Amino acid sequence: MSATVNVNGRVFDEKSAVVSVFDHGFLYGEGVYETLRTYNGQPFLFDRHTWRLRKSAEMLSLSVPIPDAEIDRRIRETLRAAGLGAGDGSSEAYIRVLVTRGVGEISYDPASCPEPSIVIIVKPQVDPPPEAFELGVTVALVPIVRNHPGSVNPLIKSNNLLNNALAMQEAFRRGAFEGVMRNYKGELAECTTANLFVVKHGAALTPPVDAGLLAGLTREFLFEVGADAGIPVREQTLKDDDLFGADEAFLTSTTREVVPIVGVDERTIGSGLPGPITRALLAGYRKRARATRPLTAAGTRRPEL
Ligand SMILES: Cc1ncc(COP(=O)(O)O)c(C=O)c1O
Repeated sequence: MSATVNVNGRVFDEKSAVVSVFDHGFLYGEGVYETLRTYNGQPFLFDRHTWRLRKSAEMLSLSVPIPDAEIDRRIRETLRAAGLGAGDGSSEAYIRVLVTRGVGEISYDPASCPEPSIVIIVKPQVDPPPEAFELGVTVALVPIVRNHPGSVNPLIKSNNLLNNALAMQEAFRRGAFEGVMRNYKGELAECTTANLFVVKHGAALTPPVDAGLLAGLTREFLFEVGADAGIPVREQTLKDDDLFGADEAFLTSTTREVVPIVGVDERTIGSGLPGPITRALLAGYRKRARATRPLTAAGTRRPEL
């Protein structure tokens, strides 16, 4: 790993970047985060990410004490220090923005933490291997239940990731690319770090947000890509059999775009190869994402040609 890190406005190399052990992010997992990536050096869907960051923070009564323009400035400063984000296609960046409760007493009282900590981690974006897109991946349907929305609501993109980590550890043990989690009602919810879609009769279906899942921005963007491509993309409650009997399936996330799923544990999904709807949605997603414009020297977006 080679990361460059902005801690509360100061840029460090990965070895020197530290936060206090008394930060409630470390002590209690109290904090929220966003994962962004660049296309042509530009953080993709920046406004949607900062909107979701603030929504997640609100759900923890946590303030994000700097405006979006300052988050943007810190990201760009860190990208420059990392030698990333040049926009010449040489290397795209992974960007993780974290906001935690900050440093305080060993107490759940948020009043003991006067100042949230803001950390931005930047490193080269690593895409899934080309075979993942060309041949598809296998996922594991894991027994770890996705958090009940009345507990730690999966809508919160929280630094408290034990639910997801335990599920992914099980998927790793089974040699799978990802783990699919059910909700407390036994319905399909999402993957451990991605949203889940199945394709049936030409339509891409994904569990509704109230099934208890993270409202992924790639998932949301895919509704727009589908509308463009004339492919119905909609929410529907899904059960195990919907996945087993799907014509196609795929997962979505910021860093992995649209990855075809061709197997669940020992079962084959559809033809066992990425299907036409998945391929069309991936192509539509990439076309739109890669149309993201680099900035001019003056820092303003180039006009569309
Ligand atoms: C639990 C979970 N679901 C879904 C996603 C996909 O979200 P997005 O498309 O915004 O990256 C993520 C991304 O990290 C995630 O952690």
